[in-house]
Amino acid sequence: MEVREISVPARLQQATMGRAPREDWAPPEPSEQMGNVIAVANQKGGVGKSTTALSLGHALHEKRKKVLLVDLDSQAHLTLMSGVELGAGDMSAYDVLMTGVMAADAIQEIEPDLDIIPGSIQLATGEVDLSRGSKREYRVREGLRAVREIYDFTIMDCPPNLGLLTLNALTAADSVLIPLQLDFLALKGMQLLLNTISEVRASTNQDLELLGILPTMARARSLHSAEVEESVREFFGDTIFKTVIKTSVRFPEAAAGFRSILEYAPSHPGAQAYRELATEVLRRTPKKVGISA
Ligand SMILES: Nc1ncnc2c1ncn2[C@@H]1O[C@H](COP(=O)(O)OP(=O)(O)O)[C@@H](O)[C@H]1O
Ligand SMILES: [Mg+2]
Repeated sequence: MEVREISVPARLQQATMGRAPREDWAPPEPSEQMGNVIAVANQKGGVGKSTTALSLGHALHEKRKKVLLVDLDSQAHLTLMSGVELGAGDMSAYDVLMTGVMAADAIQEIEPDLDIIPGSIQLATGEVDLSRGSKREYRVREGLRAVREIYDFTIMDCPPNLGLLTLNALTAADSVLIPLQLDFLALKGMQLLLNTISEVRASTNQDLELLGILPTMARARSLHSAEVEESVREFFGDTIFKTVIKTSVRFPEAAAGFRSILEYAPSHPGAQAYRELATEVLRRTPKKVGISA
């Protein structure tokens, strides 16, 4: 087959992706969900992190789950796309991080059973401000402690770097979802991200799971996209979600209207893809037992 003949040599796969995650990786057992905290992370910008946090949040909400979104990026795209405006005096994720405000005080409602802790431009100084503080990787974990059990899912959107805000998210999370742009250059950063996840497991959060890798920005009829997808599936196996998010102008259009694609174009294949992702996430999310509030 043509795709096979020009598929990427193993040597290049090694160069771009390094080691596979964990050899014993298997999707967690299906179950009743409550109190699951997911970080959406990738240090590369523009790969669909904020779009995935929003769309997955809406898709889980459609499936009658109670969802909290947390915007940890100073660009506050997730907040904007949710149609939430930070008014004067409103608390943001920055206040949770820096001033120990409990998450409950910063929560705003998008619609019933779908809430957000908004991001703010102040998060831009968060890295520096945090670096002076104590327990600096645990601030988000601490802040969420009293609210996480109220939600079926808390979905945190990370900034495009592996700094302290992302480390806070990975420390607070049960699992991490990695949007991966189907482009060979985008694979280059994967090893650094997987190493960071390993380091977090070894230091601040030994229970952190890899929920899965989500192929995003797949171009229809593109041999390159297909080729990259085939390579990553071969390399990462079942860690890759079956769902693939294709490129569509409906995504930026929905964002411009401060809505998710599920609201903007409910029957579009892009909306459908995020519903399928939600089904996969529900299947992969483990039951939580014995969690203290
Ligand atoms: N599947 C997609 N197809 C086309 N554009 C997309 C898709 N997903 C996201 N986008 C657009 O790409 C840009 C970057 O996406 P975003 O989710 O903000 O990425 P990140 O949070 O990783 O920086 C946004 O303008 C968004 O609307
Ligand atoms: Mg973003």
